[in-house]
Amino acid sequence: MSRKQVLSCIQPTGDMHYGNYFGAVANWVNLQKDYDCVYGVVDYHAMTMPYNVKKLRTTTWDLILNLVAVGIEPSNLFVQSLVPEHAELSWILNCFCSYGQLTRMTQFKDKSGQSTDESKDAFISAGLLDYPVLQAADILIYKADYVPVGKDQEQHLELTRNIAQRFNNQVGQEYFVLPECLFTETPKIKSTADPSRKMSKSAGEKHYINVFADEAKIRKQIKSAVTDAGDTPEGEMSAGVANLFELLKATGNHKEALTQLLDDHKLGSLKYVDLKATVADAIVEMSSAFNERRAALTADKKALKNQIKQSSYEIRKQAQETIKEVKDLVGLLNVRF
Ligand code: AMP
Ligand code: TRP
Repeated sequence: MSRKQVLSCIQPTGDMHYGNYFGAVANWVNLQKDYDCVYGVVDYHAMTMPYNVKKLRTTTWDLILNLVAVGIEPSNLFVQSLVPEHAELSWILNCFCSYGQLTRMTQFKDKSGQSTDESKDAFISAGLLDYPVLQAADILIYKADYVPVGKDQEQHLELTRNIAQRFNNQVGQEYFVLPECLFTETPKIKSTADPSRKMSKSAGEKHYINVFADEAKIRKQIKSAVTDAGDTPEGEMSAGVANLFELLKATGNHKEALTQLLDDHKLGSLKYVDLKATVADAIVEMSSAFNERRAALTADKKALKNQIKQSSYEIRKQAQETIKEVKDLVGLLNVRF
């Protein structure tokens, strides 16, 4: 039996943090053993919010370096704009997606400021509204069975299945595979500075722990993590403490200490300094291994860039095949010049 296809993508919009890593990327690394995997650095997506045209290319290469440093195989990686068929399929899928559905996407409401009313006068691009259709194209173009993402992407996956279903109905055959989400055991990591919100880049630097931060910075951030805002009912675990336990569990290290600390919590004798020290040790160990590999890769950036150009070229062949079939199915001309 042929292996199932896995696809996921990440936007080059700055640092990689432990929300990305534990929520998604760690899973990507593990899946490579058992599945055919393709992972995209989606630079077209990064253009949907105001961005710096002079920085995007550097950010894209940086993210590639980071992904390879944490264990993604270069041959499984592609850059979205090197496979322009994604944009082509996206246009076609636009015509199989309702406008109303796009306006109801939570991420659109958040990013366009609609849910908070904070940026009434901000420029909101049509690309931001259309973003989930490009995401659907990313997924469907490789006929992915599984899409490993964080819980925040569930709605976009649901939309992807809707689009695929509508397409299949209209062309009269089960052409597109309906993809399923794969969640990790850590679907949502919270900000250590404000555990009521998710760890994310867009909230600002203090809200995320960079996977490649140095030891001093990591220890400082974890030391100042919010533990208890004083509104937690007796006997329950506060969101901040739960998040620290979640981080420790996710590292997979210091298992005995984890059990001990959980027991302490049950008995009401947990000292937050002890929990924080153990979490910091576990995270620092991971980050220093990642930093070491990153330094080695940085020494020969050119070789890595060439590898990624080649892998994008190879992966593109699959996308070209799909576009050809799709054009046939929807009644577009299919001429090769
Ligand atoms: P982004 O950085 O928003 O492009 O997200 C890249 C991937 O990381 C997506 O699969 C997200 O679902 C996942 N992700 C982002 N933030 C978190 C978080 N705080 N917890 C868990 N997963 C996350
Ligand atoms: N929307 C995703 C995010 O914000 C990134 C993404 C783009 C993606 N295309 C994708 C994720 C395809 C999975 C599959 O994190």
